Amino acid sequence: MKKLFILFFYAGLFLTACAKNAPVMVTNLRCESLSDPVGIDIAAPRLSWELSSDVNDIRQTGYRIIVASSLDKLNAGEGDLWDSKFVKSDNTLYIPYSGSKPKSRMKCYWKVKVATNKGDAGWSANASWTSALLDSSDWKAEWTGLDKSFPGDVLEKNTRLSARYFRKEFTLDPKTIANASLYISGLGFYEAFINGKRVGTQVFSPTATDYSKSVKYNTFDVTELLKAGANAMGVVLGNGRFFSMRQPGIRNFGFPKMITQLEVTYTDGSRQTIVSDTSWKVTANGPIRSNSEFDGEEYDARMETPGWTLAGFDDKNWLQAEKTEAPGGKLEAQRNRNIQIMETISPIAITELKPGMYILDMGQNMVGKLRIKVKGKAGDQVKLRFAETLKKDGSLYLDNIRGALVTDKYTLKGKDVEIWEPSFTYHGFRFVEITGFPVTPSLSDFEGRVMIDEMDVTGKFETSNKMINNIYKNAYWGIRGNYRSMPTDCPQRDERMGWLGDRAVGSLGESFIFDNHRLYAKWLDDIEQAQRETGSIPDVAPNYWQIYSDNMTWPGAYIIIAGMLYDQFGDKEPIIKHYASMKKWMNYMKEKYMIDYIMKKDTYGDWCMPPESPELIHSKDSTRITAAAVLGTTFYYHLSTLLNRFAVLLDKPVDADQFAKEAESVKKAFNEKFLDKPAGCYSNNTVTANILPLRFGMVPDEYKNAVFNNIVEKTMGDFKGHVSAGLVGIQQLMRGLSDYGRTDIAYQIATNTTYPSWGYMVENGATTIWELWNGNTADPAMNSGNHVMLLGDLIAWYYGYLAGIQNAPGSVGYKQIAFKPYLSKGLDYVDASFRSIRGLIGSSWKIEDGAFTWTIKVPANCSAIVYVPVSGKEAVKAPAGAKYNGMKEGYAVFQVASGTYSFISKL
Ligand code: BGC
Repeated sequence: MKKLFILFFYAGLFLTACAKNAPVMVTNLRCESLSDPVGIDIAAPRLSWELSSDVNDIRQTGYRIIVASSLDKLNAGEGDLWDSKFVKSDNTLYIPYSGSKPKSRMKCYWKVKVATNKGDAGWSANASWTSALLDSSDWKAEWTGLDKSFPGDVLEKNTRLSARYFRKEFTLDPKTIANASLYISGLGFYEAFINGKRVGTQVFSPTATDYSKSVKYNTFDVTELLKAGANAMGVVLGNGRFFSMRQPGIRNFGFPKMITQLEVTYTDGSRQTIVSDTSWKVTANGPIRSNSEFDGEEYDARMETPGWTLAGFDDKNWLQAEKTEAPGGKLEAQRNRNIQIMETISPIAITELKPGMYILDMGQNMVGKLRIKVKGKAGDQVKLRFAETLKKDGSLYLDNIRGALVTDKYTLKGKDVEIWEPSFTYHGFRFVEITGFPVTPSLSDFEGRVMIDEMDVTGKFETSNKMINNIYKNAYWGIRGNYRSMPTDCPQRDERMGWLGDRAVGSLGESFIFDNHRLYAKWLDDIEQAQRETGSIPDVAPNYWQIYSDNMTWPGAYIIIAGMLYDQFGDKEPIIKHYASMKKWMNYMKEKYMIDYIMKKDTYGDWCMPPESPELIHSKDSTRITAAAVLGTTFYYHLSTLLNRFAVLLDKPVDADQFAKEAESVKKAFNEKFLDKPAGCYSNNTVTANILPLRFGMVPDEYKNAVFNNIVEKTMGDFKGHVSAGLVGIQQLMRGLSDYGRTDIAYQIATNTTYPSWGYMVENGATTIWELWNGNTADPAMNSGNHVMLLGDLIAWYYGYLAGIQNAPGSVGYKQIAFKPYLSKGLDYVDASFRSIRGLIGSSWKIEDGAFTWTIKVPANCSAIVYVPVSGKEAVKAPAGAKYNGMKEGYAVFQVASGTYSFISKL
């Protein structure tokens, strides 16, 4: 009996050990940061995964990746394309595929098995990627279009074109189709159909670029859409950014054109290819009578040609398509995701302003389009105009939309209920003026279609303070609304450009909320493509507006964002790719403008400094204006230190040394020229003049306190605890205040409801972030209701300081996290999480009766340093596994491995 008991006991132990043997799951397999991407044209795509576990202290000790040419082989564990064999490593990110050379069109199946300190995790689920056309000779298709205008097109000023419709019928062999892929680029935008069905759900595709440098194509698996025998394909082209939105003024690349290649592979291995060429038919007489991103779309449903994307349609009145000149840019597979309808919202109110004129309220300043449902007679025309706000009389306020006509028109065909939304325009709006609606419209006739780049929402952030939560919500809407395959300044007026300076530090905060990795990596390519031979980098990229004003603060975003992608996503590739261009730009600026290590050249100043009076756009008060040379020189220094870091990373010791030395000289010259030693401030003592050198590490140790005190005095005195800096300073202000122990002031700024503050915007009805602090009273000439630049470092401060989630010093991509919440009176809880590139990071704390209760989540294979705010070490209740490292500046410091931990401390 005793023996039997012992046997059971040991068997039990054994079973428990087996069950515990694999407490880890390998999840979220990604190729080039995307799951199962189709259309990758990189020779060595990079593979990444996450580990997840309910058990604490999981470390990867090695991995084995296998890549197979078929699912069967993969399932049989045969890596015929690549078997990495067991690699001893804790790395889970960007491991380059190193197997046999990938071929065009090849689908590669892969999985990974991971060894950890707690045993082996089994094989992951299967994942895949599909190669696009890797060699330019794979392209058999021709650029096809019609390089001319048609009646109704307008080529000057408010330019507009009717959409171009292309069609082609083809016969497929009576064989079984194994798979079929469509490779397509249609400029500006395309929508493709096969046998009456839409290909994909993407809108505004392909991604916007400088088409003379790079043209992106998309790849689709269209196997399901085809059949043996007669088939048809149709493509509609809109203007997008290819055909200029204003002439003169905005770059024009020409009339719409397309390249499409449909490849059908049969089960017997044979292939049939249908390409764009002069055999296609084309018409400009379709229902989309005009389209422009600024001015709207006009659609005449009476001109619809039912069945035009089906075989057997009579196209004898259509024209023959022509071979056109290629747009010039390199044809490349698109790596960032397309824009999609990411959400739909229902309007909250409709009012009749005067007979037949209705105002629809979406309840949210959104970006996208309105879908309408309408019934009426053929020829009835519904007109929609879009605005962000209303005038006192309840009509649309259009002054701040400037020259954009923002008008969609739908002419009914008069049959049954008609449902329509435009294809090639978008608006930034909360309110819509509706006229010409044949009957009394009701709320259910409308739907807001939120059109933005497809990306995961990775962040969650909630606090005990309602105003902070509200501002966060507004920021969320503003940021996503301005992701339009480039980060735009605004979505509503006749601008909508990728202004560099707006996103320098903003991109960091944004990266907590959204997986914006691929979008910003793409934007850096846009910036590089916009660089001139001389080295000059513009203020806007893609450079549809050609503004090469040469300053440090706007183009500097190029370098700052490459650093952000490395820090936040652990991705070194953008640095490798752009290092030479960044260096070239820095040299160009130095050679051309720097005198005795002082960079005087600047363009925009500390843009949008809160003005002293409500109607101004820019402050006129000299005590609020930061000198150009202060902005230029501090930025030159900061960017040199970043380039020094990049050079070290890329193992370029000579460069690293040069940047370090130069930075030293700049710092010295700057302090000699601008540091007012007796006063302990820089230049004319603006907050920006002080916070930049302080945050960038230029202030000699003995002056740091004095400089910081000046920031505090100015902020609390002149600005009465409100934002005290413009666009450049605000990128550092919140973090700077917390770094130097005044989170209370940052908190005050963050929760103010009086001018100037984000809370003031909320109090005055904003549902996004305004371009101006005084957006409700200032000149409409530059007063968008949906600009995110004034967020500065607010979102980075929310996550990095209030929630206390930061990279530990020296860590990137959160391999080691520093959890350090900065507390302020009045804030009782923060509940935040952020799905990092290595898994979910969580920080959730609350204060009750002087007790601080905190739960943190550290992704598997990561570790953390935890700063627990406390009166003294003995007042902390730490969980098992937390190793005490000592007290530091009011925090008890612990070291933990991966997992979930809860701390309680007495404050
Ligand atoms: C844009 C800004 C931009 C600024 C620079 C404005 O018109 O909307 O976002 O940064 O110009 O001058």
